Amino acid sequence: MFDLKNLIRDNIKTLKPYSSARHEFTGKASVFLDANENPYGSPLPDKFNRYPDPLQWQLKFQIARIKGVPAENIFIGNGSDEVIDLAFRIFCTPAKDNVIICPPTYGMYEVSGNINDVEIKKINLTHDFQLDVEGVMNAIDTNTKLIFICSPNNPTGNNMRREDVEIILNNFSGIVIIDEAYINYSKQKTFIQELTEYPNLVVMQTLSKAWGLAALRLGLCYAPMDIIDLFNKVKPPYNINDASQLLALEALQNADLVNEWITASVQQKEILIKELSAFNFVEKIYPSDANFFLMKVKDASKLYNYLAENEIVVRNRSRDPGCENCLRITIGTPEENQQLLHLLKNYKM
Ligand SMILES: Cc1ncc(COP(=O)(O)O)c(C=O)c1O
Repeated sequence: MFDLKNLIRDNIKTLKPYSSARHEFTGKASVFLDANENPYGSPLPDKFNRYPDPLQWQLKFQIARIKGVPAENIFIGNGSDEVIDLAFRIFCTPAKDNVIICPPTYGMYEVSGNINDVEIKKINLTHDFQLDVEGVMNAIDTNTKLIFICSPNNPTGNNMRREDVEIILNNFSGIVIIDEAYINYSKQKTFIQELTEYPNLVVMQTLSKAWGLAALRLGLCYAPMDIIDLFNKVKPPYNINDASQLLALEALQNADLVNEWITASVQQKEILIKELSAFNFVEKIYPSDANFFLMKVKDASKLYNYLAENEIVVRNRSRDPGCENCLRITIGTPEENQQLLHLLKNYKM
């Protein structure tokens, strides 16, 4: 049985969070002598001398409108990486608790676990890069607090089967974190509409991929309100700076442009995959629902080096389980993709 209280670390349960100046006062005021700021302004044309809204309400309302999820169910992190780290710090007691991840997958789940001194149980994906549901369920013990599921998965590019994710959500009494960083490229339906169905569901998305805002560091987290409260309790008071909040608000007005880019990337992916499949050094290209794909070749290191020498950088994922001799290639602009194809035409094995 899911009971959130049983999952929270004792020190977080009893934590009295930091109370910032902007947090404590909610009335109407015109003179702010409460936060030791510089009252004259800043050397920048825009005003950045005041601390930002700690809970980023304007940005959350805008995201809520786009996503059809109440603003109260949204937490914004300094990149998804902050959301991942906070999840460890809220739920996992170091040197006692554990989490389950399903490699090959996004590397930060493990790094964040290691930083927080939390055991990582690895249940590899099956040969077709799907969840080993039985393996995951068997690995759960009384100290398992989180299960990370990445869908579409990085670096394999494929969606996890929805029924498998649902089995885990229904049968695990800890928190299931579904990382949907690449959902905008996917045919898969997001899980953010299911927050009322599952009290243990946390969904992560990001503005770093399809929205083109990687430099602003804005990771989105959707969860039931009692879980959002925990994230707010533990986060640094001003984790999202004002420049990022303002620029994101502006960017979010341009959904049409972003949708055009998504369509273009998906088309480019199909073209690239078709052309690359014809090369004799390409053994397999895995199906992808993301803006990248995994490509198995005869000698990944050699091909990686050849591309690097010619100023094209891809990722060699050969050391990931099930990914021997695999390169992960991000879809570029049509010109960049043509450059890649041109180089590969001249590649001698
Ligand atoms: C699956 C996945 N999740 C999260 C992230 C990180 O996102 P952010 O830029 O929001 O920290 C990445 C970045 O590569 C990713 O591949």
